[in-house]
Amino acid sequence: MNLAKNLFTPIDLGAYRLPNRIVMAPLTRNRAAAGNVPTELNAIYYAQRASAGLLITEASQVAPQGLGYPATPGIHSPEQVAGWKLVTEAVHAKGGRIFLQLWHVGRISHPDLQPDGALPVAPSAIAPQGMASTYEGSKPFVTPRALDRSEIPGIVEQYRRGAKNALEAGFDGVEVHGANGYLLDQFLRDGSNQRTDDYGGSIENRARLMLEVTEAVVGVWGSNRVGIRLSPSGTFNDMRDSNPEATFGYVVEQLNRFNLAYLHLIDPSEADARHGGKAIPTAYFRSIYQGNLIVASDYDLAKGNEAIASGAADLVAYGRLFIANPDLVERFRLNAPLNTPDVNTFYGGDAKGYTDYPALSVQSVS
Ligand code: PHB
Repeated sequence: MNLAKNLFTPIDLGAYRLPNRIVMAPLTRNRAAAGNVPTELNAIYYAQRASAGLLITEASQVAPQGLGYPATPGIHSPEQVAGWKLVTEAVHAKGGRIFLQLWHVGRISHPDLQPDGALPVAPSAIAPQGMASTYEGSKPFVTPRALDRSEIPGIVEQYRRGAKNALEAGFDGVEVHGANGYLLDQFLRDGSNQRTDDYGGSIENRARLMLEVTEAVVGVWGSNRVGIRLSPSGTFNDMRDSNPEATFGYVVEQLNRFNLAYLHLIDPSEADARHGGKAIPTAYFRSIYQGNLIVASDYDLAKGNEAIASGAADLVAYGRLFIANPDLVERFRLNAPLNTPDVNTFYGGDAKGYTDYPALSVQSVS
């Protein structure tokens, strides 16, 4: 008899009892319609994957200013709410649960994507290295405009409104996107935040916006339907911090007071640490955080089961494997072969490489 937990051991995650611990990671797919509106195609895609213990949507901007890529969905207009309703209804019809990821890209944008061609906003006027994705292809990032202190309550308000819209759209919860070099992460880390007001300088100050946003979102949803994603060792989007253990240790410790449904970490011991970030053992955060922990970064079935069995994490999020395998849960259950993801159709396009990956026998959505 094997008493060890694995990916198929049900778990209580906040308000929900999940049938398994296999989470679909948030994945940008750039297939929203004009106006950044989700469509029936997006509904089919998510519904095909509804056997996941939890689906987390692709990052979805809370305001026009939060947009950083073509064709990513938003959660700020009535049309977007209506589009997302197609998604939540389709997922629920298949018995799934789906959280929306709330996003503001901050400086990872370009005037071409901004209302009135304005500069993107950020904690400080520091341009990231690299290229923005515009409607006309890649263009170098510009130096963003530092948000005025007086504008910050408005940013919190954008997240609150996004959270309310997600509730109206029929989601089961929301995930605050605090990772990957977007606005909240830009405030948190000192490589991108050199403010001298109460949102910059000390770790407490740099974490303030992320914690205020979390509080606002919890105010809408209740703590047991809210999660947050962090990338403590991530370097994507030109991110750095002079002391990530201290910075993220503080945030994770503060998050305890919210009693959230979960903390979602892009595995700091691997993931971006390979790309030059400082590796931090996941166990460091596990020891600080008192709630459920989701980890993500290129896990496979064996590694996922091992993470659960060892107690390193409570759930495991899969990205690329879910892109290529709508029935990933069933394939894992049977230890069946997996389809190979096609990188060329990850970002943008139509049904090809999106809803046409085959399930094991028949298409999972007919
Ligand atoms: C992307 O669109 O490339 C993207 C979006 C959100 C992330 C990471 C990457 O968290």
